Amino acid sequence: MYQSIRDKLHLEADLPYIEHWSAAPDFLELISDHCLEYRPNNIVECSSGLTTLILARCCQLNDKGRVLSLENGSEYAEKTREDLKAFGLEQYAEVIHAPLHEVIINSREYAWYHLEALHAVSIDMLVIDGPSGFTQKHARYPAIPMLYDRLSHESVIYLDDASREDEKEIVEMWRKEYPSLSHAHIETERGCSLLSVHKT
Ligand SMILES: C[S@@+](CC[C@H](N)C(=O)[O-])C[C@H]1O[C@@H](n2cnc3c(N)ncnc32)[C@H](O)[C@@H]1O
Repeated sequence: MYQSIRDKLHLEADLPYIEHWSAAPDFLELISDHCLEYRPNNIVECSSGLTTLILARCCQLNDKGRVLSLENGSEYAEKTREDLKAFGLEQYAEVIHAPLHEVIINSREYAWYHLEALHAVSIDMLVIDGPSGFTQKHARYPAIPMLYDRLSHESVIYLDDASREDEKEIVEMWRKEYPSLSHAHIETERGCSLLSVHKT
């Protein structure tokens, strides 16, 4: 299944996927197609792994852009760095060890990535595939409230696992709080929500 994306991006080595944890091939195709067509400068990711490798490869093919990947698990951050190195892609992505810490949004507590080490960039593409759903209810909800001000005027957000009830609720919360976001649900193996940002 990962063969098709590997071929499409002209990668020679097998992709280091971890069953159940790595993004599914159809989600990787969606984000890589977007990246190759729109050539974003700054891509920020919530969770690192195969998505990081694929997006970094797209930046290499584009000869443009860079991925900043927030990863709470230091062992997963290290593994992604090693994979990037093995594929010669380390200059196209930086994996930031960003432990989860308490953030309060609308009087509710969430455990979400520490943003101290995230460079001040204008984000053109945001990919949300973490924190893991088991950490708490609505685990991925803080992504937009915490990063909205850093999103560029015409940016896009890809949320993985959007077929799950938890993610459907998160998307509803975002749409209520940010009515200018446009939304499309894309039928993939695990569901993808594509949100487009239009700031005036
Ligand atoms: C759904 S995974 C997504 C990782 C990445 N986007 C990818 O496509 O490979 C979300 C998070 O789960 C954690 N994780 C990754 N592999 C794991 C494993 N084997 N067991 C437990 N947690 C894992 C990491 O912290 C990762 O950021």
